[in-house]
Amino acid sequence: MSFRSHFCGTLSQSDDGLKVSLAGWVDVRRDLGGVIFIELRDHTGKLQLVADPQINPQVYKVFETLKAEYCIKIQGIIKNRPAGTENPDLRTGAVEIYPESVEILNKSKTLPLPLKDFEDTDELFRLKYRFLDLRRDSMQKNIRFRHKITQAIRDYLVAKDFLEIETPILTKSTPEGARDYLVPSRMQKGKFFALPQSPQLFKQLLMISGFEKYFQVARCFRDEDLRADRQPEFTQIDIEMSFINIEDIISNTEGIFENIFKVIGKNVKLPFQRMDYDTAMNLYGKDAPDLRFDMKLIDFTDIMETSGFESFSKIVSKNGIVKGLCVPTKDWSRKEYDDLKNLVTTKEYGAKGLAWITYKENNEIASPIAKFFSEEELSKIKTRANAKEGDSIFFVADKKEIVHNALGRLRLHLGEKLNLIDKNKDEFVWIVNWPLFEKDHISGKLNVMHHPFTSPDMKDLHLLDTEPVKVRALAYDIVYNGVELGGGSIRTYREDIQKKVLQLLNIEDEEIENRFGFLLQALSLGAPPHGGIALGLDRLVMMLAKETSLRQVIAFPKVQSSSCPLTEAPSEVDSEQLEELALKISLPNPS
Ligand code: AMO
Ligand code: AMP
Repeated sequence: MSFRSHFCGTLSQSDDGLKVSLAGWVDVRRDLGGVIFIELRDHTGKLQLVADPQINPQVYKVFETLKAEYCIKIQGIIKNRPAGTENPDLRTGAVEIYPESVEILNKSKTLPLPLKDFEDTDELFRLKYRFLDLRRDSMQKNIRFRHKITQAIRDYLVAKDFLEIETPILTKSTPEGARDYLVPSRMQKGKFFALPQSPQLFKQLLMISGFEKYFQVARCFRDEDLRADRQPEFTQIDIEMSFINIEDIISNTEGIFENIFKVIGKNVKLPFQRMDYDTAMNLYGKDAPDLRFDMKLIDFTDIMETSGFESFSKIVSKNGIVKGLCVPTKDWSRKEYDDLKNLVTTKEYGAKGLAWITYKENNEIASPIAKFFSEEELSKIKTRANAKEGDSIFFVADKKEIVHNALGRLRLHLGEKLNLIDKNKDEFVWIVNWPLFEKDHISGKLNVMHHPFTSPDMKDLHLLDTEPVKVRALAYDIVYNGVELGGGSIRTYREDIQKKVLQLLNIEDEEIENRFGFLLQALSLGAPPHGGIALGLDRLVMMLAKETSLRQVIAFPKVQSSSCPLTEAPSEVDSEQLEELALKISLPNPS
C-alpha cells in the first residue's frame, strides 16, 4: 500500500468523514494526561492527530512513545473538531483525526535543538544542521518560492522559443573580475580546469553555432570575498540572443519580470525607467542606485572653489569635487555626527572627513566649518541645497570617485536610519551608457567595466585608439531597489575589434591567443551580431522574499570563509589523491 492518500495541509471541513492515510513528521506532541495530541507535518502543512486510550488503546500506546521528528504513518477518518476547539492559527485547524492505526517509519534521536528554536540561534549552527533548519516553515517557504520564481522565468523563456542548453563546468577561465576556482587535471598533470565564473564564452559560441535564443539556469563560481549579497557559487539566469539590439534584450528581460510578478501576485510597472551611468554616479554616488527615496547628491564644487575654506578650495584646485547631502530634520548628537564621519572615513571609503552645517531655529547655524564662509557663500550653499530649518548638509571633498563612493554609502545609511525608504516600493531602473573602460588610478592601466566581450558603441569606435576612457559600451545593468540584479551587453562580434579591446587591456598577443584564441577564431567564421544578459537568481529571490542574506534562499549555502559548515568542505585529501594529481601542499608558515 502506498504511504499516503492525502497530504496533511490540504484537508479541511469539506473532507469530514473521509478515510485517509497520511505520512510525515511528529511536529509537536502534547500529552494532556489521558489524551495525546500530535501535530503531524508534511511538506504541505500540519494536521492534528488525537489518541484517546478509551477509543483506541493500541494507537494510544504507540503515541505514548512518539517524540519530536519521528517519521510516522497513520490511517484514520477526518472529523470536524468539536465547536470551540478549532485552532484558527492552523490552516487545517477545523479538523482532526483519531487514527485507527499508526506505524513508526523511523525514530529520531533528540534534536540538537528543538526546531522552533532554530530561528533565533547562531547561523553557523543552523547551517551545520541545515537539513533540520530546512524543515522549518520559513525555510520551506523560501526554497519553494525560489522554485516558483525559477519556474516563472523558465516558462516565459520556453514560451518565447528559448532553448535551455547546458555548458561545461570543467572549463577555462572566463574573466568576470573574480578569482577562479581551479580543478587539477589527473590526465594532464600540472594542468588545471577553471570552474566557470559565468557561461559567457560558451553562450557566445552557441550563438555562433546558430541556436539564436539560449538560456540556462547556470551555476557560476567566483572566488571572491563573501558579503551578504555574494556567494562563491551562485546561480544565474543566463540568456543570449542573436540578431538583436539593446531594445530586444531590455524588452525580453522586462517580460521576464512581468511574468515573475504575475506569478507571485504583484504588479510591476513597465517599461522600467532608464538612467545613464554618469547620472547614477553623479546623483546617487552608485551604479546601482536605490530610487525608493530621493536625497540626491548636491554639487557644491563651484561655490567651494572660491570660498575661504581652504581644506575644500585646495581640493577643488587639484581637480577634486565637493558634494553633499541635504538631510531632513533631525537633532544630531555629537556622537551621531562622529558615527557618520567614521562611516565614510574608513579605509574602504577613504573620505578625509565629513563636514556639516545644521540649520537650527531662528536662522542659527551649527557647524564646524561655517566660520570659513562669507554670509553670501552660506546663503548660496543653503539655496543650492534647498535646505530648510532643521536640515543638515553633509559635505565630502575629494577626488570624484571617493566623494561618490563615500556619499553613496552615507545616503543609504541615512535612508535606513531616518526611515526614508519606502519598503513597499518596487523601483527598477536600467543603468545604460556605461563607459567601456575605467582607468586604474594607481597603475594607469585600463580595466573593463563589465567583461572584455562587451561591444563598444560603434559611434565611439574612432576613440578606441585615442581616448579609450571616453568609449561608451553597449552594456546595461538592471537594478532593483538599489541592488544590481543583472547585467549584460551587446557583444563584440568582429574579430578585429575583439582583439583590439583585449590589447587595450594590456594582454600580450601570445596570451590573447592562449586564452581567447578559440573565441577569436569563432568570431572570424561568420559570428552573428549577438548579445545577452545574466540575472542573479539568488539575489532576485532574496529581494522578492524580502530577505537580507542570500543564505536564506539557498538550500546549502557557504559561509564567510567560503566553507560549508554541514559537510565541512573544503577539506584535506588523501596523499594518494595528491600524488595522482602530481600536487604537493606547501602551506605558508603560520605567522
Ligand atoms: P555579472 O558578473 O554582472 O555578469 O553577473 C550577473 C549577475 O549575477 C549576480 N552575481 C552574483 N550573485 C551572487 N553571488 C555572487 N558572487 C554574484 N556575482 C554576480 C548579480 C549579477 O548582476 N556574463 C555576464 C552576463 C552577461 O554579460 O550576459 C555576467 O556574469 O546579480
Ligand atoms: P579642518 O579645517 O581640515 O580641520 O576641517 C574642518 C572640518 O571639515 C572637520 O569637521 C573635518 O572633518 C571636515 N573636513 C576636512 N576635510 C574634509 C574633506 N576633504 N571632506 C569632508 N570634510 C572634510
